[in-house]
Amino acid sequence: MNQRLITGQTLAFSASPFAVPPEEAVRHHRHGAVLVEDGRIAKVGPAEALLAAHPQVPREDMGEALLMAGFVDAHAHYPQTGIIASWGKRLIDWLNGYTFPEEMRFADPAYAGEIAGLYLDLNAANGITTACCYCSSAPESVDALMAAAEARGLRLAAGKVMMDRNAPEGLCDTPARGYEESAALIARWHGRGRLTYVVSPRFAPTSSPEQLEAAGALWAANPSCLMQTHLSEQHEEIAWVAGLFPEAPDYFGVYQRFGLTGPGAVMGHAIHLTARERAAITETGTGIAHCPTSNTFIGSGLFDMAAAQRLGVPVGLATDVGGGSSFSMLRTMAAAYEIGQLSGTALHPAQLLWLATQGAADTLRMGEAIGNLAPGREADIIALDLASTPVIAQRAGRAESLWEQIFPTIMLGDDRAIRAVRTAGNQPRAAA
Ligand code: GUN
Ligand code: ZN
Repeated sequence: MNQRLITGQTLAFSASPFAVPPEEAVRHHRHGAVLVEDGRIAKVGPAEALLAAHPQVPREDMGEALLMAGFVDAHAHYPQTGIIASWGKRLIDWLNGYTFPEEMRFADPAYAGEIAGLYLDLNAANGITTACCYCSSAPESVDALMAAAEARGLRLAAGKVMMDRNAPEGLCDTPARGYEESAALIARWHGRGRLTYVVSPRFAPTSSPEQLEAAGALWAANPSCLMQTHLSEQHEEIAWVAGLFPEAPDYFGVYQRFGLTGPGAVMGHAIHLTARERAAITETGTGIAHCPTSNTFIGSGLFDMAAAQRLGVPVGLATDVGGGSSFSMLRTMAAAYEIGQLSGTALHPAQLLWLATQGAADTLRMGEAIGNLAPGREADIIALDLASTPVIAQRAGRAESLWEQIFPTIMLGDDRAIRAVRTAGNQPRAAA
């Protein structure tokens, strides 16, 4: 048996900080330790007790750093790595002007492989140990990302974008081709090692009703896959969907009609929802990925986290790279906090950390495998330096509580705060 003890401050959730007072939702050991056995967490507890119980086990000391579950990004687009921070456009023009031309390049396996490696390295540098990722519509783009994740030992969910209208011809498939190519990718990658396939119709405007029907049939035939799409991000988009699907009650109703809702379905954004849509999201148990840096960067609007929590469905945090403006889940939490303030809810640091770990894992139906520092979970662990820059160090130095010590890193931290990343207990390996 391969064993290792990692010591530092440990932070684990015992309950959802949205369900109980946030301070009561966590277990913290200022001098803690995690026992890792064969890539899984075996024990979490006070360092003294674990060191005494396992005197022969190799140790890794992270000092004062905060050991917690690796971040989970519930929604991202790896082919947009190269166009992150593109200026001046709202969603539809941003897609046509920046996104689609770049995604066109991913039929080239060499380019796809290069960006897939870069994307996963940037994720690791930012403590993201699992992402739920859109590829481009080219199957080669999925092969490249899945292979790069497998080579690094990373848990990953990803899928080929299905898109058969309102996009450049070179990016469009057809209902039959989108189905067949996705089915072949499922056969090749889904359930292999730590990889999960995600049926990925981009969003209602770029799929015909026939293609959405095919996507629903594909997911029904492969129910252990996830399903991801975009919902109600901008007002112009919502009006466009109403014109394209006049018989649907609303945007979410389009996805309901084609069997694209329910547990394991992840709706990106979901900002501007009607009362009927909220009720239907609850009824179906559909998950939501909140993408705060994207929502401000593309000018989409203010997500109401308090209302989303009342729906009683999984809600996770996401970068939405490259509509999102950062690979950092710390920066993403900071943006969620700022948006919360603007919509009347001061999210507690424990709630922000939950959304970036267990909440996001729950949206991906991976909440039993990852997302918390708990026995039995896969050992995807990060060590956060809570004094990574002078401004953070001086603010944390005045802290009178754990949360006052952590919050400056959430608000001001970046990849410099990620002192170490361990995936399944190991350092992420670069692809060969
Ligand atoms: N809606 C449809 N496609 C996309 C995308 O790539 N990014 C964002 N932010 N919204 C979308
Ligand atoms: Zn997106």
